[in-house]
Amino acid sequence: MKATIAAKHIWITGAGSGIGKSLALAYAKAGNQVVITGRGETNLNQVAAIYPDNITVLVWDVTDDQSCDAVRAAIKVRLGWLDIAIFNAGYCEYTDGANLETESFRRVYEVNVFGIVNGITVAMPLLKALNEPLDSSQPLNDSIARSRSQIVGVGSLSALIGMPTAESYGSSKAAANYLLEALRIDVADQNIDVSVVNPGFVETPMTATNNFPMPFLMDADAAAKRIMSGIEARRHKIQFPRRLHWILALMACFPGLWFRINRAILARSNPKG
Ligand SMILES: NC(=O)c1ccc[n+]([C@@H]2O[C@H](COP(=O)([O-])OP(=O)(O)OC[C@H]3O[C@@H](n4cnc5c(N)ncnc54)[C@H](OP(=O)(O)O)[C@@H]3O)[C@@H](O)[C@H]2O)c1
Repeated sequence: MKATIAAKHIWITGAGSGIGKSLALAYAKAGNQVVITGRGETNLNQVAAIYPDNITVLVWDVTDDQSCDAVRAAIKVRLGWLDIAIFNAGYCEYTDGANLETESFRRVYEVNVFGIVNGITVAMPLLKALNEPLDSSQPLNDSIARSRSQIVGVGSLSALIGMPTAESYGSSKAAANYLLEALRIDVADQNIDVSVVNPGFVETPMTATNNFPMPFLMDADAAAKRIMSGIEARRHKIQFPRRLHWILALMACFPGLWFRINRAILARSNPKG
């Protein structure tokens, strides 16, 4: 007899556009119950209108730590509990290395780092694993698989190595990676798995105005597919596209070479600089 797969209760931040939107639609299409959050209500409503029985909208700014209790209560009313919390909301500003602006860093870190921290504090008490003790009548593997919850945070491949003009964005994503890796260890014995997603370049509103080459650019639906299969496999790190990940991981082993390559590229694009 074929086992039925129970619909999951999933929260996705930043799901009014881009990768978050593609994730929300794919999870809803598969029959899961999804709460989507973001600041732009119009975008969120447009996403929810595609699967009104499976997607609910909540307007929440991830930087608003004063409203964590309220958003937790609202998610609880709509879903009861969470199987998966996906912290996808992100924000990017490029930097001028010689003229760094503290406020710019603050804006980026507020979303990409503190936004995840706020999300975790909202989600943690709602995670099913903390509310439903393991059922000892079930075979061990089945019982563990059904009861473990998941926290997923979206970082970036830019976290792997210093990228020009990404002093704030890349370092915020590196901080997010560390935060989630540490959390993975700390909550493992509470039946919570933690995954970090590090995408390369994805075609979304965030990259729409980029005026530099974006190798191996992929569309948001393809990115969502990679993320969902990584979440399904409960992978520690979900990093793609593979070729870009390998190149950057290799370069991280040779920082001197990475420096020289980037200096040469900058010199060619700005010969007088
Ligand atoms: N696109 C890429 O190439 C790429 C590469 C690596 C990593 N990423 C990461 O992937 C994630 C998704 O980005 P995307 O590419 O899909 O770009 P996107 O379409 O701009 O999505 C970002 C989402 O975050 C939401 N958001 C921003 N600030 C927020 C805040 N303060 N509170 C709540 N929501 C907020 C935005 O919605 P509202 O404005 O409506 O709030 C938006 O829906 C981000 O974490 C990004 O850093 C993207």
